[in-house]
Amino acid sequence: MRIVLFGPPGAGKGTVASVLVARTKAVHIATGDLLRAQMKEKTQLGERARAYIDKGELVPDELVIAMAEARLDLGDAAEGFILDGYPRTISQAEILDRFLSCRGHNLEGVFELQLAEDVIIRRLSGRRICPACETIFNVYTLPPKVEGLCDKCGAALITREDDNPKSIAVRFKTYQAQTAPLLDYYRSRGLLFAVDASAGAERATEQILKMLEKDGKAAPTKG
Ligand code: AP5
Repeated sequence: MRIVLFGPPGAGKGTVASVLVARTKAVHIATGDLLRAQMKEKTQLGERARAYIDKGELVPDELVIAMAEARLDLGDAAEGFILDGYPRTISQAEILDRFLSCRGHNLEGVFELQLAEDVIIRRLSGRRICPACETIFNVYTLPPKVEGLCDKCGAALITREDDNPKSIAVRFKTYQAQTAPLLDYYRSRGLLFAVDASAGAERATEQILKMLEKDGKAAPTKG
């Protein structure tokens, strides 16, 4: 499985990816998570990225592309990957195509998670994440069993720095201006599939796996 989960901020890409990972051999590669890890470690890349991420703007292509390619070249991605938040610009998409084709691979599908904007904003405002194991929760829709604590590792949950109204507004504008044009890019290549993300992440995952099977491109290998 070599796929992209696509959609605006808060559409549920990370949540659906975690369900897909549990059911396939693919690894989840989220450029947002990779950048936040660099920020946490205060690396040079993390410090450069922070200024963009906190404002809700895209991190420059040259930083993100090198990071994404290094991750894709790790051995565990050879069995397949679920890209989340990458590519996000036309040049990222073109370079990804070239990167994969040099290795004899290609994308099997780009799945656009579709959801009304008011629902997305509510989801973003209720999102809480575990800083230790990165599990995603939501105070409205997916609350932890014990308020404020991660179900998996017990760490205290936090709100992401960029989940504030100002950054959310910029992230939406950035998505429309720089990322939504990729929909045509992938549609014209016959790779774009629409997913109704309004129901649970399990339902969205089922849709994706069915579309991949129907297309004869990949089948679930676990579960
Ligand atoms: P990134 O981390 O990728 O953020 P994003 O695209 O804004 O997406 P989110 O992580 O906010 O949302 P999501 O769709 O994963 O939703 P989630 O599953 O968490 O990027 C952050 C920043 O990094 C960017 O702004 C940019 O600066 C930089 N960056 C990253 N990649 C880059 C790139 N390629 N180029 C340049 N810059 C880059 O769900 C949201 C909430 O909803 C959660 O609380 C969840 O519990 C809840 N939820 C999800 N699904 C459901 C459901 N089905 N039912 C009920 N609740 C649900």
